[in-house]
Amino acid sequence: MKRMFTDCRLVAMHTGIELTGGYQVIENAMIAVENGAITGVGYDLPMDGFECHSLENRLVTPGFIDSHTHLVFAGNRATEFEQRLNGASYQEIAKAGGGILSTVKTTREASIEHLVELAIPRAQSLIRDGVTTIEIKSGYGLTVEDELKMLRAAKMIAKNVNVNITTTLLGAHALPPEYNHNADAYIDIVCNEMIPAAAEENLADAVDVFCETMAFTPAQMSRVFDAALKHGLHIKGHTEQLSNLGGSALAARMGALSVDHIEYLDESGVKALAEHGTVATLLPGAFYFLRETQKPPIDLLRKHQVPMTVATDFNPGTSPFARLTLMMNMASTLFGLTTKETLYGVTRHAAQATGLLAKGQIAEGFDADFAVWNVETPAEISYQIGLSPLHARYLKGMIAND
Ligand code: NIG
Ligand code: FE
Repeated sequence: MKRMFTDCRLVAMHTGIELTGGYQVIENAMIAVENGAITGVGYDLPMDGFECHSLENRLVTPGFIDSHTHLVFAGNRATEFEQRLNGASYQEIAKAGGGILSTVKTTREASIEHLVELAIPRAQSLIRDGVTTIEIKSGYGLTVEDELKMLRAAKMIAKNVNVNITTTLLGAHALPPEYNHNADAYIDIVCNEMIPAAAEENLADAVDVFCETMAFTPAQMSRVFDAALKHGLHIKGHTEQLSNLGGSALAARMGALSVDHIEYLDESGVKALAEHGTVATLLPGAFYFLRETQKPPIDLLRKHQVPMTVATDFNPGTSPFARLTLMMNMASTLFGLTTKETLYGVTRHAAQATGLLAKGQIAEGFDADFAVWNVETPAEISYQIGLSPLHARYLKGMIAND
């Protein structure tokens, strides 16, 4: 199938082009697509044998990638929201058996069909913001069977919603009650049973760990990453969210695609990311919802040219926000990111953070996933919230509006 998209106002994002705002809007551009991949971008491309589709001078960006979500779970944590408003902290609630473990309880009890049913409207909310790829983590099962159930549910979403899914095993998210005071024994299960089982069934593309005083130590994270790498899986971390344990630098040294949250990252950590090509994932929804005051070190990330990505972290405890454009808006208003930085953060840098290197750019050789917008300028995409200016999404060159 050969398709030519004409009359595009193409947002080209190439490193090296330093125009106003750091991106270029190319008027009257054409995009040639063959078998789902972009084979040419430019003007006056030869049209022979191509089916022609005019995008009527609308703005075209790469399809957005939400590179960090916990989209699959049952139950909600509105009660904890209230408890926090009455003065309890996220850590205190977790210590008392709530937090992640309360979602573990409801998720274990849910059938796979119910988990998929609950996740579909969340995915539908994301795609209304031009999202064509969603990363989904497990982490609310914490047994081999329940983690695999979550990963299977995540993959099943793509049968109901037209979107690419990439999955991450987050078995080391919290210590399950069965292993109270025996974290190393649980990490053994993650390394010796969970990761091999997920790899065997091809259920995970990556492995994540929550490295924090309330979760797992850098040494435990490193054992999990060793097992993941041995099985050919990518690695990434929830690191430096609430304190600085040095998890980000360790993850970077081990080859992590991304380290996520990173409010407490210091300059030596930032340098480690720069040195090892690890992406810094910013999750302003969690920062906002937990009413944190320590911001991620944006100026240091810029100084050391670390690529930044912006994601929803959609989850019931710290970021119940299924809108990626809202996160772009928050990354700008709360952390000071420019429009160029947020756009890169949901496209080419998000592709790097998920290891999906054929996505995130409109250029020859890349997948023809794009979003078409009813806006004049890229800034309008994240400027207003609630009135999605999306006109259409294309996956592999085919229109995908549901
Ligand atoms: O990304 N930080 C750890 N994990 C999730 C929160 C999970 C939860 O509270 O349910 C996060 O913020
Ligand atoms: Fe998260």
